[in-house]
Amino acid sequence: MSTNTQKVAIVTGGATGIGRAIAQALVAAGAAVIIAGRDQQRGEEAAAALGSNTLFVATDVSQEGDVQQLIATTVDRYGRLDYLINNAGIEAGMGGFEGTTADLLDQVLAINVKGVFLAIKHAAPVMVRQQRGVIINIGSFVGTTNPILEAAAYGASKAAVLSLTRAAAAGYADQHLRVYAVCPWMTDTPMADRQTDRDPAAKARYAAAINPSQQLVTPEDLARATVDILEGRTELPNGEAVLVDYGSALNRITPMTVA
Ligand SMILES: NC(=O)c1ccc[n+]([C@@H]2O[C@H](COP(=O)([O-])OP(=O)(O)OC[C@H]3O[C@@H](n4cnc5c(N)ncnc54)[C@H](OP(=O)(O)O)[C@@H]3O)[C@@H](O)[C@H]2O)c1
Repeated sequence: MSTNTQKVAIVTGGATGIGRAIAQALVAAGAAVIIAGRDQQRGEEAAAALGSNTLFVATDVSQEGDVQQLIATTVDRYGRLDYLINNAGIEAGMGGFEGTTADLLDQVLAINVKGVFLAIKHAAPVMVRQQRGVIINIGSFVGTTNPILEAAAYGASKAAVLSLTRAAAAGYADQHLRVYAVCPWMTDTPMADRQTDRDPAAKARYAAAINPSQQLVTPEDLARATVDILEGRTELPNGEAVLVDYGSALNRITPMTVA
């Protein structure tokens, strides 16, 4: 059981990358953190490294029974749920329209969309009972500010994350829940490693492609932005999506010429 003031947070995909940085920042802020993912060994190692205030619950977010078990375990153990960070996601479906099989499309939608839907579906009743809770869904620059052909399927899944964010924000606003999306530009995580075959030159090319900063976002910067929203240090209108992109979206703005 947590103390009355200690926040209780679930971070899906919290064993690696962005999720791990968020889990770490939450632990540093004094929260009890439950990390959820499929890889049991990696999850347990991550929880042990993050400290005694962290618990790993083996979960496939695309499976409703797993998600129900995750929420039930959290409430049984800690008595409440203050923060849900829907971070778990996969980058399947990066072959454009012709190079993405229907099976890969199903996989990316099952994890990136159904997973977020199910987590909100089962966490929201707990938060409604408390009349308090914050949900942050991790979107992407792809599918929001910078859709690209190769990532058509992945981008569509992340566009859906914004729709789920706004639907939940509007639907639960009168129950004192707040729901946001944080949308990263390409971030230096295992996902970026996989996309670049761990080649630093390839990473640098990606970073420079459409981003004036020529840098990949760090998981720590994303974690700071996310935890600031959760803890109310950044005050945002409910339902807002925040882009953490070091300026890449600027390339979507056409300068106005004044005659
Ligand atoms: N890195 C980027 O450039 C970037 C940019 C924009 C958005 N994002 C988004 O940021 C989020 C985190 O990605 P990351 O970059 O940190 O990559 P990552 O290190 O590959 O993290 C993905 C995490 O999701 C978990 N996961 C995947 N499928 C799952 C499932 N079915 N059920 C439960 N957990 C699952 C993985 O753990 P298991 O394998 O153990 O399940 C892993 O811990 C994703 O939603 C991604 O789409 C990343």
